[in-house]
Amino acid sequence: MGNETLTITDNRTGRTYTIPLTNGNIRTMDLRQIRKDPDDFGVMGYDPAFMNTASCRSAITFIDGDKGILQYRGYPIDELAEKCSFLEVAYLLLNGELPNQGELQEWEGTIRHHTMIHETTKKFLEGFRYDAHPMSMLISTVAALSTVYHEARNVHDAKIRRLQMARLIAKMPTIAAYCYRHSLGFPYVYPDNDLSYTENFMNMLWKMVEPKYHANPIMAKALDVLFILHADHEQNCSANVMRSAGSSQADPYAATAAAAAALSGPLHGGANEEVLRMLDEIGSKDKVPAYVERVKKGDVKLMGFGHRVYKNYDPRARIIKWTADQVFQVTGRNQKLDIALELERIALEDEYFIKRKLYPNVDFYSGIIYQAMGFKPEVFTVLFAIPRTVGWLAQWEEMLNDNEQKIARPRQVYVGAAERHIPPKTNAALEPAAIGA
Ligand code: CMC
Repeated sequence: MGNETLTITDNRTGRTYTIPLTNGNIRTMDLRQIRKDPDDFGVMGYDPAFMNTASCRSAITFIDGDKGILQYRGYPIDELAEKCSFLEVAYLLLNGELPNQGELQEWEGTIRHHTMIHETTKKFLEGFRYDAHPMSMLISTVAALSTVYHEARNVHDAKIRRLQMARLIAKMPTIAAYCYRHSLGFPYVYPDNDLSYTENFMNMLWKMVEPKYHANPIMAKALDVLFILHADHEQNCSANVMRSAGSSQADPYAATAAAAAALSGPLHGGANEEVLRMLDEIGSKDKVPAYVERVKKGDVKLMGFGHRVYKNYDPRARIIKWTADQVFQVTGRNQKLDIALELERIALEDEYFIKRKLYPNVDFYSGIIYQAMGFKPEVFTVLFAIPRTVGWLAQWEEMLNDNEQKIARPRQVYVGAAERHIPPKTNAALEPAAIGA
């Protein structure tokens, strides 16, 4: 046992237990030795929503929520956003180190090689109703990829895993763009592998009849930065689903679809769509104080505000504001920004928000930028899912290589009925003898 320990006295029995601390934490399995009597199951931790339970040890992303720090593999998020491309950051998240020139070229080539989707997958997409929500289409189509890549089930083969990761990262923009164009009734555009990851995505979204799509460099850089900011965020709801689904050794397409489903909810990645709806509902700057009063009364939530781990300004929201300025130089200012800024100003001065440490999160400003770029709100969460796929895969790979991990299976505290029995039936016609049993 190391130097650091915790001593617990069970006041029911008077017995004392010494529990080791590793990295300042106990293993809740160590509590099981604390029993009232030999038949007792032992003490468990009860922690709905994982408020104070670590489900893994991870070396991917570090967040200090009180100080507003976010780092991928030790690099501060603002440095990565300023100095790297999204694919460099993807490589970093998956491999632990930034690529050198040769590694980056090879990695970019691998991703380019896998951008096409099988024609049967394209036909699958065509089958969705004209008004299908793009996020629902994305979730289903990602799951459908496992109908094409059967070997993906072999999750213990590192080489096969790597291939599926490259496929998922490469195909996500293609599927997302197809979902978007399907919702607009436009024909699909095939990938153009002369272009960078984000430029190619823009090509598949917006190319019309021109022979070659030329992306606006400011917009392409802004999208790349947004992708970097959304690439991973340690054990958030969807990453936890990715690990949990993956722990049953489901193939990565099924696990990624499950993670994307978790992302789609309005409390997680779906919040960016909800922020736009909220700003529409507010309508103008002068209506902000009345809306804030409704939030304080508990009638509505301030979407894009609050976070489970950030109890300070979300560092991503700061970079997003800078990105918004770049984008608005090209597109003109989105009028919703004035409402959002007023909302932030009033909220940050208000006791309700100060007391609860509620600050704007990544979703507060991202939707305003996406809308200025020409996206409909329905597609915002799809834009979140593209880069987050990298984070999900990094978490999945780490989970599979961690020999402490097993199938995820939480315990419960049963509070239902004690054992009871079905009373004899009163209707003689239904007695077993009467029905010939
Ligand atoms: N508006 C008004 N009050 C809020 C908000 C909000 N957005 N968020 C939290 N609160 C209040 C909440 O009512 C509670 O008050 P009280 O102590 O009086 O009961 C207190 O703050 C603590 O909130 P909580 O619900 O216990 O916090 P949580 O950690 O369970 O929830 C959250 C985190 C992100 C789900 C929540 O803040 C929320 O619903 N925010 C709005 C949705 C949103 O923007 N989600 C995106 C999150 S960031 C990106 C991502 O994960 O995808």
